[in-house]
Amino acid sequence: MKPAFEIRERSRVYVGPVGDLLAGALPEGRVVVVTDATVERLFAPLLAPYERLLVGQGEASKTLRTVGELYERLIDLGADRSTFILGVGGGIVTDVAGFVASTYMRGLRFGFVATTLLAQVDASVGGKNGVNVAGYKNMAGCFAQPDFVVCDPAMLRPLPDREFRAGLAEMVKAALIADGDLFAALERSSFAALREAPEQLRDLITAAIRVKADIVGRDERERGERRKLNLGHTLAHAIEKCSDRMNHGEAVAVGIALMAGAARQLGLLDAAQCDRIVRLLERLGFDLQPPVPLERLLREAGHDKKNEQGTLHIVLPAGIGDCVVRDIPTAEFATLFTDAR
Ligand code: GLY
Repeated sequence: MKPAFEIRERSRVYVGPVGDLLAGALPEGRVVVVTDATVERLFAPLLAPYERLLVGQGEASKTLRTVGELYERLIDLGADRSTFILGVGGGIVTDVAGFVASTYMRGLRFGFVATTLLAQVDASVGGKNGVNVAGYKNMAGCFAQPDFVVCDPAMLRPLPDREFRAGLAEMVKAALIADGDLFAALERSSFAALREAPEQLRDLITAAIRVKADIVGRDERERGERRKLNLGHTLAHAIEKCSDRMNHGEAVAVGIALMAGAARQLGLLDAAQCDRIVRLLERLGFDLQPPVPLERLLREAGHDKKNEQGTLHIVLPAGIGDCVVRDIPTAEFATLFTDAR
C-alpha cells in the first residue's frame, strides 16, 4: 500500500488497516516492540509475534529513568544495531520508544503504530522524540524520523472518550494552523459522529496529518515554520506543569482558546472568528476554564523550553486556517491576555 505521506523522503505515514500495513512496512530481521500494558492487552494478537518491552502509563513514565530501564532491557535481550524498534501506543510510548531507539547504540531504526488519536494526528508524526525532566515537558530529546508510522482509525475504538477528545484538540490545532476546510468539517461534525464514523474520521485524520507532514517537510528542526505546530502549547505546558487535572489535549484546547483571545486582542482575529474557535472546542466537549489562575500560568510560561534568551516564539491564529509566529519578550507575554482577565 502506498503511504499517505512521505516526510523528507525518509518517513512514511500510512493511514489504514494495521494488519495489512505493518507486515509490509517492517524490515526483515529482529523486531522489539515497546508498548504499555493496556495496548499489549488490547492488541494481543497483533503483538504476539514480537518480543515486547513495557513502559508505564501516564506522563509520569516519560522520564530518563524509563529510558535507562529500556536500555538495560535491550542489553539483556542482546539487541544490536540491526534490531528494529517498533513503538506501539500513544504519544508517551512513541516519544519514549523513539528516543530510546535513536540513542541506544547511537541509533537503531524504528517505526510506530499509533494507537491514540493524539498520537495519530500529532505525536507519532514528525520525528520529535523525548522525555520530561523535572516536570518540564520534553526537555531531553532528539529529532529523528521513524522509518514509518501506521495510523489505523479502527484501533481508536477502545480509546476512552476523554483520550479520544484529547486527540481532537490537536486536530483543531492543525485545522486552525493551515486547513480551514478541516476546521469547517469539524464544525459540521460532532463528538458522537466522529466516534461512530470511522470513514469520516479517516479523512479528517489524513487532513490533520497533511498539515503536520507539510510543515515538517519544510522545517524539520523547528527553525521557523514548525513553531506553528506549538499553537496553544506554551500555555498547555504551563497547565500541565501546574496541575494534573487536565491531560495534554485538554490543556491544548485551553491554550488554543486563550491564544485565540490574545489574537483577537491584537486584531489578528475578529470577534466572529474568535467565537467560532471557542464554540468548536466547547461543542467537542472541552472545558476551557484553566485549572489554575491565569496569572500562575503566565508566570510558568516564562520557563517554557521554547523561551530563548528572554524571548517567546508565540503562535497566534490569524484567521481560520492561518496563523503567525511572533517573537515577544517573555516579560510582555502577560499583556496579551488583559482582555481575558
Ligand atoms: N507537536 C509539535 C511538533 O511536533 O512540532
